[in-house]
Amino acid sequence: MRITVIGTGYLGTTHAACMAELGFEVLGLDIVPEKIEALSAGRIPMYEPGLDELLRKHLVGMPGSTGRLRFTTSWEEVGAFGDMHFVCTNTPQRRGEFACDMSYVESAFDLLAPHLDRPTLVVGKSTVPVGSAERLADRLAERAPAGAAAEVAWNPEFLREGYAVNDTLHPDRIVVGVRSEAAEARMREVYTPLLDAGTPLVVTDFATAELVKAAANSFLATKISFINAMAEVCEASGADVVQLAGALAYDERIGGKFLNSGLGFGGGCLPKDIRAFMARAGELGADQALTFLREVDSINMRRRSRMVELAREQCGGGFLGRRVAVLGAAFKPNSDDVRDSPALNVAGQIQLQGAQVTVYDPKAMDNARKLFPGLSFAESALEAATGAHVVLHLTEWQEFREMDPRDLAGVVSERRILDGRNVLDPQRWREAGWTYRALGRPS
Ligand code: UDX
Repeated sequence: MRITVIGTGYLGTTHAACMAELGFEVLGLDIVPEKIEALSAGRIPMYEPGLDELLRKHLVGMPGSTGRLRFTTSWEEVGAFGDMHFVCTNTPQRRGEFACDMSYVESAFDLLAPHLDRPTLVVGKSTVPVGSAERLADRLAERAPAGAAAEVAWNPEFLREGYAVNDTLHPDRIVVGVRSEAAEARMREVYTPLLDAGTPLVVTDFATAELVKAAANSFLATKISFINAMAEVCEASGADVVQLAGALAYDERIGGKFLNSGLGFGGGCLPKDIRAFMARAGELGADQALTFLREVDSINMRRRSRMVELAREQCGGGFLGRRVAVLGAAFKPNSDDVRDSPALNVAGQIQLQGAQVTVYDPKAMDNARKLFPGLSFAESALEAATGAHVVLHLTEWQEFREMDPRDLAGVVSERRILDGRNVLDPQRWREAGWTYRALGRPS
């Protein structure tokens, strides 16, 4: 079976390389020629651990590669090559609205359709509002020369940035929404190695498959906002949210994953997915069912304002003339993604209020610079902290967890650290003469 992957962002590039790893001949397409040039030369336009190696292991023309993977910008080539097409284009939040922008997915289906002149399966992986797959399937059948033999399946992805390769090759579960037994059989065929390894497969209708993704991300966002709401109560009552979460985690029904309190969630998925879900529920007349997500979103956004307030307090009540070091720019560690990054959002707000903010991140500097050209950037944590009145730890990279507070103490103006991710050891920092503060922990 020959496979194409349309859209080579985080999801598509990972999926393409992983399908080659599973033994398929793979052709990836993107409409941005620079991306295709970079990928064809063996360069990944983002940071994703393990993906570089996997790309070069399979990319045609690379020394010693299997040659199973290549890239193009030609729809014609994609149509002629593929027996199965995976659509991995993004669905960002629409400007000024909660709903997602479906134009990239729609245009992928529309540009592909005229080239589908034999029986084929187009598999959507993008995160879309419930009801989209059915609409896209009907439209595809109308526009493809193959007619109804150009079928659709919906196969949501659950990969986390930073673990994308592992999550694709060893998923918790595979969910496929189909309208025919033939489509189900083809999905089973393409994922045979994963199913043989014991990965559970859930076969559903289109709507359920689409909803699994929205529900999963809503649940994760709710779990994070739950513990962050507890952090607010802890702050009001003098309790310690880290100990609280640790105690909750012993209850197997609750579990400790996604119960890390701090600056809250960001990135290209959770924030926009819960908003798109609310918008879609509204259209369906089911908005009441999801009003709690509005609260989940508010709690999450309040974390950022609270961090700014705490930093202002630590600067003596105002930011003017103060130097603030921000450690972390990516929305989470092991990623260079700065989309809706809580760290950069806080850095930007503080800068706007008059402080001189210097940011350092191990991988996300280029992306951060593009998004916030007004901030200053340093080449190391030590350089960022030089002369700082307060140091903000906002993305929990391993490098920051391992930092020696005594090293940093030598370069700052004042030894004040705010831990926005509740992972630094307060005792260690306090012993080195620092004032350690965190969200939801006693001072
Ligand atoms: C998420 C989902 O996990 C994934 O299944 C889906 O397919 C896409 O969205 P990702 O955006 O890569 O993946 O990041 P994730 O690891 O889920 O983290 C999301 C955000 O939540 C990050 O900003 C992270 O810092 C934050 N987070 C996570 C917390 O604040 N506390 C936690 O306990 C866990």
